[in-house]
Amino acid sequence: MKPPRMIQIAHDDPAAIRRELLAGLMAPRAGIAPKFLYDALGSRLFAAITELPEYYPTRTEAAIFTREMASMADVLGPVRTLVDLGAGNCEKAARLFEAFGVKRYVAVDISVDYLRESLGNLQRLHPGMAMLGVGLDFSSDLRLPAEVGEGPRTLFHPGSSIGNFTPDEALALLRQARAASQGGSLLIGVDLVKPPEVLESAYDDALGVTAAFNRNLLLHFNRLAATDFAIADWRHVAFFNAEASRIEMHLEAVRDARVRWNGGERHFAAGERIHTENSYKWRVDDFAALLERAGFAQPRYWTDDASWFAVFAVFA
Ligand code: AVJ
Repeated sequence: MKPPRMIQIAHDDPAAIRRELLAGLMAPRAGIAPKFLYDALGSRLFAAITELPEYYPTRTEAAIFTREMASMADVLGPVRTLVDLGAGNCEKAARLFEAFGVKRYVAVDISVDYLRESLGNLQRLHPGMAMLGVGLDFSSDLRLPAEVGEGPRTLFHPGSSIGNFTPDEALALLRQARAASQGGSLLIGVDLVKPPEVLESAYDDALGVTAAFNRNLLLHFNRLAATDFAIADWRHVAFFNAEASRIEMHLEAVRDARVRWNGGERHFAAGERIHTENSYKWRVDDFAALLERAGFAQPRYWTDDASWFAVFAVFA
């Protein structure tokens, strides 16, 4: 049994990453891109978040897939090539193989290192299926390599990862997804607007796992940018910004804090914040309209009984 082919599309070099991080740190309103939440520990903390009683999105989406799998298969028709954007452990996509009649599975994540083991295991379970791993930061450029093959593709983007993007950025990403589908379709999970108390406890849980996830960003930052953030100086803040329809996560200085690096430093006054993540919450009609503006047709969606989360299927 040959392991699946793995392709890494070039990513930024360490010097460019350091420059990007320090530019965000020095901006008047300091910010760090949420992709830096996912180092090895951050990925494990996110997995722990999905088990928390307060964090409803993962289990709500999973329940929608369980209940509506046959209906989704019916709407999509036979799926020859399934392209999993942000595949990680490939578990969500593997649940669809049988019902959707998948012949070829393409797992895409920022680094092939995240894919090698899970995709290898999956190949052993499905020896007859063609599989390919692609390391690609699709959030900046979603052009897929030729190795994915000709013909229409169904793009799969679960988990409401689209929520990390502003509406304009989401529109741009969806337009690229439409082109990348080559006349195929898109199956995408989106978290919906709901009472702010529910949202805020999902992003500020009683155990403090989300706080650890957010504060771990500074450990990762220190390694990537050779800075000296003192983790104890920073606390987790999360709130629903109703006007922008998004959860915002910040790190707030609990006292005057200084961060130094070779060539510079920044002072933060007590109470000053670093913006670390947005997680947009959509209304079903607005997201359907966004998909149509991106050029997709025939939006269909499935939701849970409380309408907390939606899975959309659309055609290019
Ligand atoms: C992985 C982006 C979907 O926005 O809910 C979880 C990340 N941040 N808790 C989300 C996250 C804080 C998550 N996404």
